[in-house]
Amino acid sequence: MLWCHVTLITKEEKQNIGERVMMKAPRTACLMVVLCITTVLLEARRSIHRTPEATPEITVYWRDDQTEKYRLRDSHLEEGAVFHTFDREYFESHMLPSGVIPYRYEPKKSIETSVLKKLLEELVCEMQAGKTVFTHFEPLKKNEFNTHSRTGFIVVKFKDYPFVAKVFVEEPSSFVDPYSRGFRPMCIYFMSGGVMRHSTGFGRIPNLDIIRKHVADDPCWDALITMPDKWFWQPDNVRQLVVEGKNIGPNPSMKVTLPSVYAIVADLIIPEKRMSLISKKDARLCLDLCHYCDYCIDPNISNFVLERNIEPRTKKYTVPIPDNANNHQRMVANYMQELLDDDLSLCIYDTEHFRTLVGIKDAPFHTSNYVSWYLKLSKKFMRDKFFKFKYERIEAQKHPTFQYLF
Ligand SMILES: Nc1ncnc2c1ncn2[C@@H]1O[C@H](COP(=O)(O)OP(=O)(O)O)[C@@H](O)[C@H]1O
Ligand SMILES: [Mg+2]
Repeated sequence: MLWCHVTLITKEEKQNIGERVMMKAPRTACLMVVLCITTVLLEARRSIHRTPEATPEITVYWRDDQTEKYRLRDSHLEEGAVFHTFDREYFESHMLPSGVIPYRYEPKKSIETSVLKKLLEELVCEMQAGKTVFTHFEPLKKNEFNTHSRTGFIVVKFKDYPFVAKVFVEEPSSFVDPYSRGFRPMCIYFMSGGVMRHSTGFGRIPNLDIIRKHVADDPCWDALITMPDKWFWQPDNVRQLVVEGKNIGPNPSMKVTLPSVYAIVADLIIPEKRMSLISKKDARLCLDLCHYCDYCIDPNISNFVLERNIEPRTKKYTVPIPDNANNHQRMVANYMQELLDDDLSLCIYDTEHFRTLVGIKDAPFHTSNYVSWYLKLSKKFMRDKFFKFKYERIEAQKHPTFQYLF
């Protein structure tokens, strides 16, 4: 009975269904083509028939066991992004000190750093055991940590102490797999010339110094901007990764040795208010700051919060408004004044060197709102990934233009 009914309906509606399918077919086909092209372009390697000699290439292996070597051959790799993001001397001279460090909001209280170091060692063991719930830490961000390969980047907060840790873990096999971390790290990889999140982490402390220097040149920004104190940490006896490069930059071969596990320990920031894209004042203030600092700060709005000062400002500041200032400049100046008068500071959580991250080599993009900012970034990604001419790639190898930290 049911079969008859179905047959009856199918016959009656057959023509209509056919028409509907025909109408949707071009749209579906277009979608399939776009998806196929995107997947192929993102994932496919170069043709096997092309000569491999001049393609930039890295080989990564453990320094203490060279039996297994992993290779990545990719025309996007550039010298600065792979070899000028780490400086061992700088790294070792900015380690979590021995002795005590004070709490940000209660300077009379402090903690022995040996306690933090012990907890961090336990955290790394738990991460390497594949755990996602940690005994002494609460995760703040874990979407860039690959729980299968147990490598990547995670931000955690100490449960018992007012500090956070940004922990980076890599292995030779994961270092040559830039596609396994999700969409954002993959975009960063293409735009920067092959930088991995593991490598950009080393720039977070030197860039903090650069931001401090920029900000110190203007008394109002200087009074308004705060950042958490940060230190590097690495486990005892950490294994080292060796990254060797071929056909990258003008030198025939290059080499860098990086710790496979390290962390950045920072003061925990307690926000008075989070900055929001919906608020014009918030968005413009953050973009103006990034512009003032020559885009060495990542303008992503979630990197900024308002923080209440521990002690009221003793000095009175007056934010200058030039006579010919436009509405935008007046709005930002008035907002800065309001925050200074209210004893609030604009705190920058994230001090990753943005120019390295997205491969800004010459003049930064000038922009006055976030919509145009994201459009410009998307355009840069599309160009770097899909529309770069071969002569541009060759030029980038022959005459690298560095904007990197080391
Ligand atoms: N010092 C800090 N205090 C409190 N929360 C923090 C701190 N640093 C980072 N976070 C939290 O972790 C998130 C990710 O940290 P962030 O440094 O911005 O990483 P990413 O480079 O992936 O953007 C931030 O948006 C914030 O919520
Ligand atoms: Mg951030």
